[in-house]
Amino acid sequence: MAEDLKIAAGSKEDQYQSIIPQIKALLEGEPDLVANLANMVAALKEQFGWFWVGFYLVKEDQLVLGPFQGPIACTRIRKGKGVCGTSWEKAQTIVVPDVEKFPGHIACSSLSKSEIVVPVIRNKKVMAVLDVDSEELDTFDDTDKKYLEQIVQLIEFE
Ligand code: SME
Repeated sequence: MAEDLKIAAGSKEDQYQSIIPQIKALLEGEPDLVANLANMVAALKEQFGWFWVGFYLVKEDQLVLGPFQGPIACTRIRKGKGVCGTSWEKAQTIVVPDVEKFPGHIACSSLSKSEIVVPVIRNKKVMAVLDVDSEELDTFDDTDKKYLEQIVQLIEFE
């Protein structure tokens, strides 16, 4: 249960290894997509304290804001636009060390300095993207890519 979430200290690696089994347990037996996405972002926010973490869901030709933790955000993003729309178009994780250097970056908040976007792919189709923003430059690296890609694998789309 959520009340039992244990927050780990230590390296980034240690923190992911602590939170992943807890996220699995949170999702177990719950088929509702929104409930599961909501608890995932809450657990990630609690563990890492990121500025913003949330999902955008593919709906027809746009990404539409889904469950998130953090300040209010842009609700719709077109394919190929911003970091999220680019991750969707390329079906690839994108690590952005400095958002000001990413052409077309969409600034939902001027406080966001670096970002990672991970696509959620099922049957070769991008169903959603997980977007994480940091108030510091260069927050995300291959460790985040590796573990966040594992985490989005846990999502079941009905
Ligand atoms: N920066 C993103 C938009 C989403 S917000 O950061 C929450 C982008 O460029 O796609």
